[in-house]
Amino acid sequence: MTKGLTQAVSMKQILDLVQDDLKRVEKAIGLETVGSVGAVKTISHHMHSAGGKRLRPILLLLSSRLVDSKRTETTPEAIQLAAVVELIHTSTLVHDDVIDEAKTRRGAPSANALWGNQMSVLAGDWLYMQAFQLAMRQRNFAILDILIGLTQLMVEGEFLQMDRLGRIDVSETDYMELVDRKTASLFSSCCRLGAMAGGAGDAEAARLGEFAWNLGMAFQMIDDILDFTSKETILGKPVGNDLAEGKVTLPLLYALTETTREEARLIETILKDRSYERVQFSRVLEIIEKYHGVERAQERALHFTTRAKEIIETFPDSAYRRAVLTIADIVTNRDR
Ligand code: IPE
Ligand code: IPE
Ligand code: MG
Ligand code: MG
Repeated sequence: MTKGLTQAVSMKQILDLVQDDLKRVEKAIGLETVGSVGAVKTISHHMHSAGGKRLRPILLLLSSRLVDSKRTETTPEAIQLAAVVELIHTSTLVHDDVIDEAKTRRGAPSANALWGNQMSVLAGDWLYMQAFQLAMRQRNFAILDILIGLTQLMVEGEFLQMDRLGRIDVSETDYMELVDRKTASLFSSCCRLGAMAGGAGDAEAARLGEFAWNLGMAFQMIDDILDFTSKETILGKPVGNDLAEGKVTLPLLYALTETTREEARLIETILKDRSYERVQFSRVLEIIEKYHGVERAQERALHFTTRAKEIIETFPDSAYRRAVLTIADIVTNRDR
């Protein structure tokens, strides 16, 4: 079987496990995003109907079942929290696209491209608060504590990103710190919250959180690799975008440790111009290829997924554990 087909089959097996729950999650999201103002309604609807992989709610739902495989139904708390994390994810994307001045998201024009920055910032805020309002219904301070801490970490991640924008001297440590905040923290919270909603104790919830943190680290690294290697039609957002936005990510960062002065200067030109007008994207790809930037970044990502899988393997075997392990493989080998 081809890689794509194998992945499609395993994804189908996972979806079979969570499909009904996901419908309930979509319902919770749909109901919750009906604002009383037309613009809120339109923007929220645009974001949610454009699709998205729903990876974070899926991880949360699977975690809630994995910790108690005797349970025959997903708890209402888990459904609600799955809606919460997707809402938080969506609001961070709306804000991220404003900050990054991105034109495309989920294969459609971004909210900022359609409605401008002002309206998008407000819609993002509204979505955030909708997530918190939904979470509040559980009257559980431990949950709010996680969600607030998480949101602050993600905002810190965006600040760090802005601080490093346009700089060629980003270190691997800087990069990891950024990915930890902007992506891994949300993944981690999803599985922790899922475990809690499934009735797990603190230690177990923390262990699932650690699994998802490692998975999230790998996920962002692959996102950054795909920005160089994929196609816009597959990815749903333009390629070569990170560098044109002023971001030096892992594949390039690795290449830059070995480039000649001349090659580094080409990268600097793009970072300064914020475009490929003077130096073409294909030239960047050549440089990355010459120094095996993609392979090295893939190896690094694999290191994190391997760690993630080791942690999951400490849980008893079940269909849910197998599904989560499959997700770890799909994340490493995905093309969108
Ligand atoms: C995009 O996340 C933001 C990153 C952390 C790279 P996804 O790739 O999961 O976005 P959707 O939800 O599928 O659109
Ligand atoms: C991830 O960063 C976005 C968030 C975690 C909010 P990116 O800027 O790399 O994400 P994309 O590439 O725009 O999806
Ligand atoms: Mg972005
Ligand atoms: Mg990206």
